[in-house]
Amino acid sequence: MSRPALSDYQHLTSGKVREIFSIDNEHLLFVASDRISAYDHILDSLIPDKGRILTAMSVFFFDFLSDQIDAPNHLAGPPDDPRIPEEVLGRALVVRKLAMVPIECVARGYLTGSGLLDYQRDGKVCGIALPPGLVEASRFDEPLFTPATKAELGEHDENISFDRAVELVGPVRANQLRERTLQIYLQAADHALTRGIIIADTKFEFGVDADGRVVLADEVFTPDSSRYWPADTYKEGEVQPSFDKQFVRNWLTGPESGWDRYGSAPPPALPDEIVEATRARYIEAYERISGLSFGDWIGAGA
Ligand SMILES: Nc1ncnc2c1ncn2[C@@H]1O[C@H](COP(=O)(O)OP(=O)(O)O)[C@@H](O)[C@H]1O
Ligand SMILES: [Mg+2]
Repeated sequence: MSRPALSDYQHLTSGKVREIFSIDNEHLLFVASDRISAYDHILDSLIPDKGRILTAMSVFFFDFLSDQIDAPNHLAGPPDDPRIPEEVLGRALVVRKLAMVPIECVARGYLTGSGLLDYQRDGKVCGIALPPGLVEASRFDEPLFTPATKAELGEHDENISFDRAVELVGPVRANQLRERTLQIYLQAADHALTRGIIIADTKFEFGVDADGRVVLADEVFTPDSSRYWPADTYKEGEVQPSFDKQFVRNWLTGPESGWDRYGSAPPPALPDEIVEATRARYIEAYERISGLSFGDWIGAGA
């Protein structure tokens, strides 16, 4: 069996991390690169195998979720689908082309990041009033649905209230997205916790198919779309070490990089040992959560 070449497909768009190609009218080739972003910059350095690891993780969670709940996803073939070119095998998926919903669907189980900043301003996160006295990394009694609008590259996504989400997508869809988002988050977060990992928050993108059904799209529960924290060192009131980008962020903001996070210059290239440590963390996250060996994934170590 011979596979098509990547050049056989029309390139549609480049995202921060992915390249999207058209396979036919209904299908896209969704290719994850080894690019890494930090502090809203795409770094010059690549993390070898990152695209494969993110793809393996998404596939694990799409499979896991479809066993648990009745919620369709955008996968249109297995990770070794014959429509996938050899050169991207292991980091590409064939997906259904969807009309993407114009909001990012975020679930938060813990208070951190932009949620914490919002809370410190007015005691609310995306318009949801929270009890006083919460601190960095406080766990919510119930996870929150905190939608956001998608920002351009280099900008932060903007948190929006549920009412604003209703204005953007209508009340029926907004309620459906909230319910689906929280249900999926709870399933996966419960699972991750049994593997010693807290999924503090995560972002989903949904699309709508030709029949008007809401479909889970994009990537799911990767360290790029989620905050992973080691459960054994969790401590309320402290900034938790991020599972994946901890080394990158520490190095970039530390004395060695010479980089000013708030200046206009792009971040410098990462030293080899930071690249290698980061790669090892991505693999560890995948293996811990899935219980699978990354060495068994398509093309790993090739
Ligand atoms: N099934 C799908 N159909 C159409 N577009 C999709 C689908 N799944 C994801 N997308 C879009 O593909 C892009 C993924 O590329 P990525 O590099 O992650 O982009 P971003 O920088 O926006 O995160 C996103 O814009 C996402 O909305
Ligand atoms: Mg993305």
